[in-house]
Amino acid sequence: MIELEQMVIELSEAFGPSGFEGEVRQKIASWVGEYTNVTYDHFGSLIAVHSGTTMSPKVMLAAHMDEVGLMVRGILPGGELRVVTLGSWWPPSLLAQPVVIRSREGDRLGVIGAKPPHYLREEERNRQLKLDDLYIDVGARSAVEVQAMGIAPGDPVVPAVQTRPLSGQSVYMGKAFDDRLGCAVLANVLQTLGSHHPNQVVGVATVQEEVGLRGAKAVSPVIQPDICIVLEGVPADDFPGNSIVQGRMGGGPQIRRFDPTMIANQALVDLLIDTAQQSGIPYQVAVRESGGTDASAIQVHTHGGVPTTVIGIPVRYAHSHQGIADIRDVSHTAALVREFIFRLDLKTVNHLKQNPW
Ligand code: CO
Repeated sequence: MIELEQMVIELSEAFGPSGFEGEVRQKIASWVGEYTNVTYDHFGSLIAVHSGTTMSPKVMLAAHMDEVGLMVRGILPGGELRVVTLGSWWPPSLLAQPVVIRSREGDRLGVIGAKPPHYLREEERNRQLKLDDLYIDVGARSAVEVQAMGIAPGDPVVPAVQTRPLSGQSVYMGKAFDDRLGCAVLANVLQTLGSHHPNQVVGVATVQEEVGLRGAKAVSPVIQPDICIVLEGVPADDFPGNSIVQGRMGGGPQIRRFDPTMIANQALVDLLIDTAQQSGIPYQVAVRESGGTDASAIQVHTHGGVPTTVIGIPVRYAHSHQGIADIRDVSHTAALVREFIFRLDLKTVNHLKQNPW
């Protein structure tokens, strides 16, 4: 069984922007295949069924495999690549960052360029950078040179980043922690659950979350879960000047009561908090002013609705080249989910369904 820490490193470094999740899926399948029955839907999501002592209730755990990335749109005469985004980026965070372009002939390195500051006019300096100002520079001098490298419109792009430890033993810097940390929890729980849980667990690694929860919308009606927990790498809010901190890195799993796209089943949240307290697992509770996850799609894309919430692992600088996260938050999340699954027998889940608040 692979260590959680090694799992995080491998998942973080895997290539997998929205619509190109194959490498991530292959890793998860190789880790959980021995413990679950793995199938795929027609859109790319992985479905791993873990049998317990009974077939019902059906407990869905979901994590998305895709990371925010780019796609080559076209090649300018000078050899620069224009791009479209796969998921949401804040353009200033892209400037001067290294990227890898997956061409049909292999991976190519580039850097995100823009007009150099030395050449900017006054009015250009004072306005915010837009995606249109940016391009990928692969070190070529013409479109012909770029074509000779095998690069073509449609090639997917992700940050070129190695996952590295920071000070301390458990904090790492790397890309795609949103949501490879959730994928790591999913795989770890499926590996360590054992067969005595009073339910059927269905682990789902979804595709295309970052472009509008498309994978979750496609797969939920197929699963028809009785209850669902979404596992997410969520933006940490422990930055300077924030007076309401609900997602501190190292503060433990963050249980979500609300975001603008989802009102969680409050009884489910209460039961999760109970479980954390009784198991001595640190936790934090979030009421978010923005954001949304696969949970908003899953909770309404099943007949009659599904009691749902999100458990988040705080990630500083999500949707950028260098996120920072604490592995202890990942292992605490896995411990909480594992404990929780053993509480979800038919009676408890039926109660949550009938008494959501
Ligand atoms: Co995410």
